[in-house]
Amino acid sequence: MVLITIEGIDGSGKSSLVLSLTRLLKDECPVITREPGSTWVGDAVRRAIADKVDPITEALLFVADHASHIATVIRPALSAGRLVVSDRYSDSRYAYQQVMLEGIIDEPLAWLRAVHDGWTIPPDLTFLIVLPVEVALSRMGDGRTLEHFEEAGFLARVQKNYLSLAEEDPSRFILVDGLKTAEEIAEFVAGSIRDFSGSSLSRHRQ
Ligand code: TYD
Repeated sequence: MVLITIEGIDGSGKSSLVLSLTRLLKDECPVITREPGSTWVGDAVRRAIADKVDPITEALLFVADHASHIATVIRPALSAGRLVVSDRYSDSRYAYQQVMLEGIIDEPLAWLRAVHDGWTIPPDLTFLIVLPVEVALSRMGDGRTLEHFEEAGFLARVQKNYLSLAEEDPSRFILVDGLKTAEEIAEFVAGSIRDFSGSSLSRHRQ
């Protein structure tokens, strides 16, 4: 009944935050989920990222993964009255694919929004972790080959897009300082989710 999303550039600490939320919100029995998802559609997306397919194919695969995520996880969980927390969601497309589609499609953000229009379920609250790109990059790497999304100039543009989305919709976005300790971030986000889902429960009861 409440849909919370967590967004941020690669290396922003989203995954460890989501892991902590599983523990800190245990009593709320949240459905913790992610995009790209854990189905074969999600696997196809991961394969497309690794194979560097063309940006339109890639964007549409991410959208297909979102459709499958909504149909199999998000809608059923919300209908059952559950608290849902998703590690990445539509704003990842609006931030990342907007950069990937620049120069290929006239107005990438408008196009991406139009593709989602009419069937996506907008989040109630979105936590955006913000941190300097160099810090995010230094947290990744560890010797492995970086994906094409994991490059400084690219991530700087993605983060800029995220910040514009947040500016456009301040009542949905909560900005989180990614330089705080993992514990501080997790406590803050878990507390805000509790406050939000508590007040939304009382709104439903009225
Ligand atoms: P993911 O495996 O979730 O990586 P991370 O742990 O950094 O979240 O996502 C893989 C990459 O896909 C990541 O660099 C972000 C990117 N991505 C998009 O470009 N668009 C999208 O819609 C989504 C969901 C992810």
